[in-house]
Amino acid sequence: MEKNKIWQGNWTFIMAAAGSAVGLGNIWKFPYMTGTNGGGAFVLIYLLCILLIGLPVMMAETYIGRYGRKSPINSLNKITSDFSLNKIWVILGWLGAIAGIMILSYYSVFAGIAAAYIFNYIPATEIDPAQYSINYFSKFVSSPQKMILWHSLFIITTCVVVGKGVVEGIGKTISILMPTLFFLVIALCIYSSFSGDFSEAFNFLFNPDFSKINTSVVISAMGQAFFTLSIGMGAIMAYGAYMPKEQLIGKTVLIIVFLDTSVALLAGLTIFPIVFSNPELSVSSGPGLLFETLPVAFHSLPFGNIFASIFFILISIAAISSSVSLIEPFTAWIEEKGIFSRVQGVILLGGIAWLLGLGSVFSFNIWSAKTFFGFNFLSLMDFITNNLMLPMGGLTISIFVGWILNKEAVQKEMKIPKSLFKVFIFCLRVIAPLAISIIFLSYFFS
Ligand code: TRP
Repeated sequence: MEKNKIWQGNWTFIMAAAGSAVGLGNIWKFPYMTGTNGGGAFVLIYLLCILLIGLPVMMAETYIGRYGRKSPINSLNKITSDFSLNKIWVILGWLGAIAGIMILSYYSVFAGIAAAYIFNYIPATEIDPAQYSINYFSKFVSSPQKMILWHSLFIITTCVVVGKGVVEGIGKTISILMPTLFFLVIALCIYSSFSGDFSEAFNFLFNPDFSKINTSVVISAMGQAFFTLSIGMGAIMAYGAYMPKEQLIGKTVLIIVFLDTSVALLAGLTIFPIVFSNPELSVSSGPGLLFETLPVAFHSLPFGNIFASIFFILISIAAISSSVSLIEPFTAWIEEKGIFSRVQGVILLGGIAWLLGLGSVFSFNIWSAKTFFGFNFLSLMDFITNNLMLPMGGLTISIFVGWILNKEAVQKEMKIPKSLFKVFIFCLRVIAPLAISIIFLSYFFS
């Protein structure tokens, strides 16, 4: 990959960043988290976090990336040198690079299941599809061999794409994939709302029951907002480095956030009607929810098997366009540093993520009874990264751009109208840091 290459046209950055944002977080994680956290109240807090914290933090991250035009670590190095600031801020880049590898480790396990499901369908003769589907999932995850096989395949694919370089490797693929995925999600949502219990699903998602709110629901909603937008660890910063100079950061980020949120809500509106019309399926079934419900929906559809395969193919590709952004920040730094080549770097990092991912595989089977600080291995990784490291990264970014950087310089680069810029800075200075700190404090001291 050429150094400092800039993506052609405004759509490439939008597609790449939306490709990073839209992934398992929207289709797999959002529905199951909504289910286990009680529905509407979770969705409401999630949406508030997206708007008040996610949007400004994503803009700030894009700004730093485009300013530095390097890996997140070196972009932070450059910006701190240029403004003669303390080098301590570079730690942000390091924590993000590490968080990316940790997230990739279990992301790959679920992306592997999605890929395996390309070849799974409920037999036509099956009389109880929901029960079949539930059993199939639990049988699948009880086999470490199968899970390791798919986890390995997914990591390898991610590494091949990243090894080729982000511009070459993902720029083109995503511009075809994203519109297709969007179209299919809408189509599936329409189908499911006719064949399932749409009104109950709608109510579950948008009619908040405030008695369900507790500190754990709030911290999960905030974590999910960071996770789904790919912010807090430098992924968007890494892509910002390739963004054309004239492209408007505010408008562009708004489009990405809109696309991401729409896909998540549509996924919820697809999955819950199916859950509510099948008594065996449960909203709170956890990480298996997507895999238990979708096959049931496809089962009753003409040519269902084909559509099911197509849908899981798209989910797998959406997962790859996200997973590459988890490993890219660290890889880009290794490449810039010149100790290893990009390919060697990605093999090393992919190997670490693969190894760490085994822990998540085992938490479904041979380690299912093992706990670490009260969590199983998978939920521990999930909690540390989504609920702690990403919001912590977001907090640091907001303080850095809101308080430390020179506001005039930021405004000149952002080109947002003055009144909106004031709102943006207010969110970064006050709202985001305050909200994140309060959520942390109330979680840990309640
Ligand atoms: N946002 C992606 C999803 O929703 C996952 C992801 C990709 C991510 N890159 C990230 C999450 C960086 C956090 C940080 O599936």
